[in-house]
Amino acid sequence: MSGNQNFSAESDPRNRPIGIFDSGIGGLTVLREIWKALPNESTVYFGDSGRYPYGTKSHDNIVQFSLQNMRFLLSRNVKMIVIACNSASAHAGDEVRRQAGVPVIEVISPGAEQAAALTRNGIIGISATRATVTSGLYESAIREAADRMIAVGENREALRNLSVLPVACPLFVSLAEEGYWNHPATKMIAEEYLSDIREAGADVLVLGCTHYPLLGKIIGEVMGPETILVDSGASVAQKVRQTLFETGLSRSETGTISYQFFTSDDPEMFEHRAGPFLGGGKPSGTRFVSAESFSEGVKP
Ligand code: DGL
Repeated sequence: MSGNQNFSAESDPRNRPIGIFDSGIGGLTVLREIWKALPNESTVYFGDSGRYPYGTKSHDNIVQFSLQNMRFLLSRNVKMIVIACNSASAHAGDEVRRQAGVPVIEVISPGAEQAAALTRNGIIGISATRATVTSGLYESAIREAADRMIAVGENREALRNLSVLPVACPLFVSLAEEGYWNHPATKMIAEEYLSDIREAGADVLVLGCTHYPLLGKIIGEVMGPETILVDSGASVAQKVRQTLFETGLSRSETGTISYQFFTSDDPEMFEHRAGPFLGGGKPSGTRFVSAESFSEGVKP
């Protein structure tokens, strides 16, 4: 799962890699969906584990980190940037889009659209980091998605009477990183975080953090079989595919592709923790990079 970039073959913009970043390893749950949906595309993944977590950081810090991550990925000649972190998407999505000069995909709108499409009673729970919850972006994205559906003739009462219930679940991130996917402690904490949303009758719960899909089994047990869990990874990958197609950037070659990994922390630790987030398999050849050094301009 590694490889060296062949820049000569990349003078054609279509053959350049897709860049993906997250605060650490959570975004790998999005990367694995991109690999599944687009097996002919090369990728460069950057996990900012040295500055993880983002979900507890201020707006200004998240914007600054995200712009540095963007500049690093641009220095790797990427043709598109996927912000595979809800906290970064919520706080820095607009700014990254404004500055990137390549198409930018964030992870909030696809999840919001899915939630609006799936709800039957209009009660939608959002589980996310504190930074994502305080941004209020999921709530507005779900309401906008519902309005668009109504505008094209969807006549569901639920779309007109939405009740969006966000809850910050900061400990879920550490539990996922620690491998507590099926642990009684996770169940206890999930019960504590989610019981109000369950009692309110939510029929959809958005997993609004790219770490949370690893806790899906326990979250599902706590919410009960009537609640649909929305993990936006697959719809983000479809959005990537659609955008590549619409912008004429789908890869034109069928030759060798490369999967590159970078981290701002210890590469060995990154690789050790990454496997389960990728759904098995383990990255290799991960290189260290300090994203802080990409604070001004785009390095060649
Ligand atoms: N993966 C990040 C997200 O989707 C959360 C982890 C963090 O707090 O950095 O928001």
